[in-house]
Amino acid sequence: MGPDRPATIPAAKFGTTLDRMRFTSALGYLLLLATAGALPARPSPNRDARVEDLLQQMTLEEKSGQLNQYSAGQPTGPGTHRDSYETMIASGQVGSLLNVTRAEEVNRYQRIAVERSRLHIPLLFGLDVIHGFRTIFPVNLGLSSTFDPALIEETARVAAEEAAAQGIRWTFSPMVDVARDARWGRIAESAGEDPYLGSIMARAYVRGYQGRQLHDPTSILACAKHFVGYGAAEAGRDYNTTDISERSLRQVYLGPFHASAEAGVATFMSAFNSLDGVPASANAFTLHDVLRGEWGFSGLVVSDWGAVEETISHGIAADGATAARKSFLAGVDMDMESGLYVSELPGLVRSGAVPRQELDESVRRVLRLKVDLGLFENPYAPVDGSATVRPRAESRGLAQRAAEESFVLLKNAAPQGQAPILPLASRPGRTIALIGPLADSARDMLGCWSAQGIPSDVITLRTALAERTAAEGMRLLYAEGSKILGNDRSGFDEAVRVARKADVAILALGEQGDRTGEGASRAHLDLDGQQEKLLEAVHATGKPVIVVLFSGRPLTVAWAAEHANAIVAAWFPGVEAGPALVRMLFGDVNPSGRLTATWPRAVGQEPLYYNALNTGRPTPPAVDAREVTSGDATSIGAYRFTSRYIDERNAPLFPFGHGLSYTTYAYSATSAGARRISAAAISGGRASVKVSASVTNSGKREGTEVVQCYIRLTGTSVARPASELKGFQRIRLAPGETRRVEFVLTREELSFWNIQMKSVVEPATLEARIAPDSTRGAGVSVIIEP
Ligand code: NOJ
Repeated sequence: MGPDRPATIPAAKFGTTLDRMRFTSALGYLLLLATAGALPARPSPNRDARVEDLLQQMTLEEKSGQLNQYSAGQPTGPGTHRDSYETMIASGQVGSLLNVTRAEEVNRYQRIAVERSRLHIPLLFGLDVIHGFRTIFPVNLGLSSTFDPALIEETARVAAEEAAAQGIRWTFSPMVDVARDARWGRIAESAGEDPYLGSIMARAYVRGYQGRQLHDPTSILACAKHFVGYGAAEAGRDYNTTDISERSLRQVYLGPFHASAEAGVATFMSAFNSLDGVPASANAFTLHDVLRGEWGFSGLVVSDWGAVEETISHGIAADGATAARKSFLAGVDMDMESGLYVSELPGLVRSGAVPRQELDESVRRVLRLKVDLGLFENPYAPVDGSATVRPRAESRGLAQRAAEESFVLLKNAAPQGQAPILPLASRPGRTIALIGPLADSARDMLGCWSAQGIPSDVITLRTALAERTAAEGMRLLYAEGSKILGNDRSGFDEAVRVARKADVAILALGEQGDRTGEGASRAHLDLDGQQEKLLEAVHATGKPVIVVLFSGRPLTVAWAAEHANAIVAAWFPGVEAGPALVRMLFGDVNPSGRLTATWPRAVGQEPLYYNALNTGRPTPPAVDAREVTSGDATSIGAYRFTSRYIDERNAPLFPFGHGLSYTTYAYSATSAGARRISAAAISGGRASVKVSASVTNSGKREGTEVVQCYIRLTGTSVARPASELKGFQRIRLAPGETRRVEFVLTREELSFWNIQMKSVVEPATLEARIAPDSTRGAGVSVIIEP
């Protein structure tokens, strides 16, 4: 129970400001860093006592204040229902601030909380640190294309170190929404369409952000978002309704969230969308029953921005008090930006509409995290003024490696009798034409969430290519050609002129960085503006054309796929965009990225994802390939009434898992350790299915292959997808080298949500395929016996 009348608590109880500042001086910080490894792995045993001690002293208003998160920079004052932040922090009405980005500002606000608020409880500062803080890495969809969780963990670690140095101890990342629709702008922030891969990537981000222990001054809280179903927005339109069956929810969308919880993620964010008619930020089934009940999650749930108040627009609350009550009782602990918890919860508790114990429990969750992070001892940002410090060389090195691994070589054609166009030969005297609106656009390379990244940190493709060509006695000609958007074709003549003078043309095309991410859904996935026409004009010169596509999503580039000699999906590669691309284009690195989201031929195919059910009337792939392309698809007798379009193929332009290399790989057939195995033994952890294949580097260069393992289960109580990723390994192979690659399929890989909505291993026929992508590979059958 909180006291009725607040008592004044002297700041000295927590040490004087001077003490604290001394403690957090540069020297103190270094000492802390040096001793971080020696800190206890678990929160101090005093934590709970300390939290209870505070709770005892808190008024209802102060408790509600701890559950209130505001964004710095939002208007305050008359007409906004907000006092100045200074006043609100001093009176204990704010528990957390987001969007403060610099140490000086963090410390200014923190000083008010620690010195002037009655209980001296420090603020927790949060920010969207999504693919880097100061050192910007590739957008997350690109990062996922690396199939390299260790690398992702490293990038998250660097982001955490940079953010924590500014006093930001909470990132709203990773976004673990399964994203099956390229129209949805936020696919850029995702790990793509696969829940298995998404779960592995989710764990990697969590480990990277949170480090070994939260007390470490370089650790920041991770946040698994957006719980849940946000990625299934109808028609790919952001914030739109979702209606997901419980089976799909459990089988597909919850997976990466559960993995995050198991990895120890400290916080969750409840989503904007409604799910089965109930807003996700007031959804007791997902927040209370599943997250808290089934998974035992004891961390903090914050709402997405204004999502508590948006329950009014959804239509389930008539006023702010009802919105606050419904969200709170469903399981949202902290209200981001609505301001409704701080204004309504005290009254709701007094009236009995919200039990006081529940309020206390949510406040405990906030306070525990503040203790765990060491904020009471060390509330201030350790380094002042370092927001202007440039990214460290090692961080840039990591950004370059991440970009190199993220590139997906979609096409690399060999003109008749010649070698494939890539890698580029570096011959003195050669001329390269670099054309396109993204060749020299530093800002766009940063993608959609660039935290404190700045364009002047970016090395563009043009800059890096100019350096490389000059160093090797080649000539570089450049023409912008067109803008990304708009109708202007006045730059075409110059583009064609430079292409004519060159031996090869590189076209840097794609999306504007800020036309991806939140609120950036698209109904058209073609190249924006005049870019496709520009490509056609350059192609008409007869010069070989390499297209480098910058995007935060799959695009519909069927014309380019047919006519360009090579296509690279470069995503938004971050600060080292240029050097990484140049190294890839010249073959210093051999591309190894693989698609984690399917590229459609036409937007009408969306949502298009590889792990779909087979349907009762599948169209055989060979028929799909033959008929639509051969003209009148309506006339195909036997296949007319199969599941297909009459004006487009079913098959994607580029499938999940696809990505070429400068070498080639040959796969043997897949074999299995045993052809019959008992479901009960697998369930009990006493048996597993071992499958293996030999992979040979059959080309002339060393390369890294992403070996993928897919399964299909048939004879089951509910239909299972025609193909599901259940394992992958990145292996490096010298030319001619062969490696036997084995995957062990356990209960985790073979169980699914059955007809009784239980996660079980059922008797079934298992087909397992070890393959270079989701469409290829020769499978082996294993009977899973009762
Ligand atoms: C809204 C976005 O949906 C969410 O991902 C983000 O973390 C918050 N805004 C805070 O910026």
